[in-house]
Amino acid sequence: MIVEDFILKNYNAHIESGSVKWESPSNIALVKYWGKKENQIPENPSISFTLSNCKTITELTYTKKDFSTALKVSSDFSFDVYFEGEKNEAFKPKIQTFFERIEAYVPFLRDYHFKIETSNTFPHSSGIASSASGMSALALCLMSIEQKLREDVTLSAVERSSEKNYFKRKASFLARLGSGSACRSIEGELVVWGQNESTESSDLYGIKFDGEVHPNFKNYQDTILLVDKGEKQVSSTVGHKLMFGHPYAEQRFNQAHDNLAKLKSVLASGDLQTFVKIVESEALTLHAMMMTSMPYFILMKPNTLEIISKLWKYRSENSSNVCFTLDAGANVHVLYPENEKESVLKFIKNELSTFCQNGHFITDFVGKGAQLIKN
Ligand code: PMV
Repeated sequence: MIVEDFILKNYNAHIESGSVKWESPSNIALVKYWGKKENQIPENPSISFTLSNCKTITELTYTKKDFSTALKVSSDFSFDVYFEGEKNEAFKPKIQTFFERIEAYVPFLRDYHFKIETSNTFPHSSGIASSASGMSALALCLMSIEQKLREDVTLSAVERSSEKNYFKRKASFLARLGSGSACRSIEGELVVWGQNESTESSDLYGIKFDGEVHPNFKNYQDTILLVDKGEKQVSSTVGHKLMFGHPYAEQRFNQAHDNLAKLKSVLASGDLQTFVKIVESEALTLHAMMMTSMPYFILMKPNTLEIISKLWKYRSENSSNVCFTLDAGANVHVLYPENEKESVLKFIKNELSTFCQNGHFITDFVGKGAQLIKN
């Protein structure tokens, strides 16, 4: 599908009001997206596990503006945001920007007033980015409204031929415009985003990984160790920009293509040792990119390194396949197969939780993607 396919041309804003609700998970990248072009187009392909427990629940209530009254009704975007039951002004600028970016594709945005009620299952200010789950949940709510507004109009050939895919792909397309990695949160269990030679792919939206997946990766576990719950030191907007003119950018982008190709065969064969090598190398490369950019950043904390070295020791002493990955921050995602769950969790509680802020960690595992709660 191309950009034009996502422009909503025929719709009928006949519905006065209603509300829809979705829950959408976070995701953790195995091959990392770092660096983007104009319009949130990634410089390199990425692949992620969709998570289960870490999610955002968003209810979107829409009420048609009454343009007929003598009182002047503004045609600006009109919305209120409630986070965990409380009115929240801080989220508004990000949503305003999101609406500006997606307006061309969902033109009914100016026809309605929206009440956005959102909450996360993971603690606020846990250092876990909520942009992937938050933006994907909101994009899905907008798609549910779009679907209602299109009920009695003639669909284009593209829309008709792939109605089911169209919904998910456009939700992912919109989510991408809110936050790049959010486009990988619509479906499970593995999602690829960014054109590449190894898998079915697009720069415009995430696609469920189409390759074979060995049972070793079923219910793969992700325990998130909360090393630093503070605000991100480098926002991802700033972070992606660091790749402009970065001396190693081209090599890094090529490496991501190679790693995705390798990971594809690892996912099919179930070769956990190679999986560990690719995933850890990707995490460290992401951080190496930040350390070697100008300006430069160190986003790991001493406790991040303590955890990594303990984890490596545990892995070699126990012939384990546990490994780590990192986002653009200090928290550590500990990844391991389901059959190691008991032993690794014991190890985390006994030896790693001491390096977490207030001993906090979150247990999660690979999930199937977003869920409609109310339509
Ligand atoms: O979606 P953004 O713009 O917040 O970027 C996220 C980038 C990483 O989390 C560091 C990597 C990834 O692929 O998710």
